[in-house]
Amino acid sequence: MLTQQQLKQQAADAALDYIDPFVGPDVVIGVGTGSTADLFIDGLVRFKGRVRGAVASSERSAARLAAHGITVLDLNDVADMPVYVDGADEIDPALNMVKGGGGALTREKIVASVAKRFVCIADESKLVDRLGAFPLPVEVIPMAREALARRLAALGGQPVWRQGFVTDNGNIILDVAGLTIKDPAAFEAEVNNIPGVVTCGLFARAGADVALLATQGGIRRLDR
Ligand code: A5P
Repeated sequence: MLTQQQLKQQAADAALDYIDPFVGPDVVIGVGTGSTADLFIDGLVRFKGRVRGAVASSERSAARLAAHGITVLDLNDVADMPVYVDGADEIDPALNMVKGGGGALTREKIVASVAKRFVCIADESKLVDRLGAFPLPVEVIPMAREALARRLAALGGQPVWRQGFVTDNGNIILDVAGLTIKDPAAFEAEVNNIPGVVTCGLFARAGADVALLATQGGIRRLDR
């Protein structure tokens, strides 16, 4: 029986095999945030010197890449990225995701939006029939906190301020429990449109293109 850590490692290794054909001297890899993404970053060492570098979705991932001697590029200096690799807190069979458990959702969404393909890596426990059991992280401009908490409660959720946590962008997070998310793309647009929301952790409009899910029986691949 493989541990969850071993499953995460298996997913990270599968992503390294996935990106291998894209590797080249001008290539920039988009890198996510989280414990599974950390294992992917550690494995990226094998491509050091064979790619131009990586764009990170958080200060945490940037530091880990730099510690491995992998060039960390500013997204403003990158026009083309073949692939972005990241974990998820939940993913459904249509490859819509909830992300942001680590609080990096906004930068994750920005970097992913530049990449041609989003590869989601996770252990199979992240696969759900319907999103919403994991409280939806919403990055919020601090002055809008209470106003947004009321708006999100009116949408049927129970928002909780992630106290003591500040995002890399200087904002705060509301984690919204108890939501029934019937139409992830419509709900993502609705929440993102409320003044004071920077972005919510639903990745439906730009969900994953490929999911590499580690199971006890090996990698299960899902394509959008
Ligand atoms: C970070 O903000 C998140 O979106 C992560 O990608 C997500 O929480 C998955 O993290 P793990 O790989 O640690 O489960």
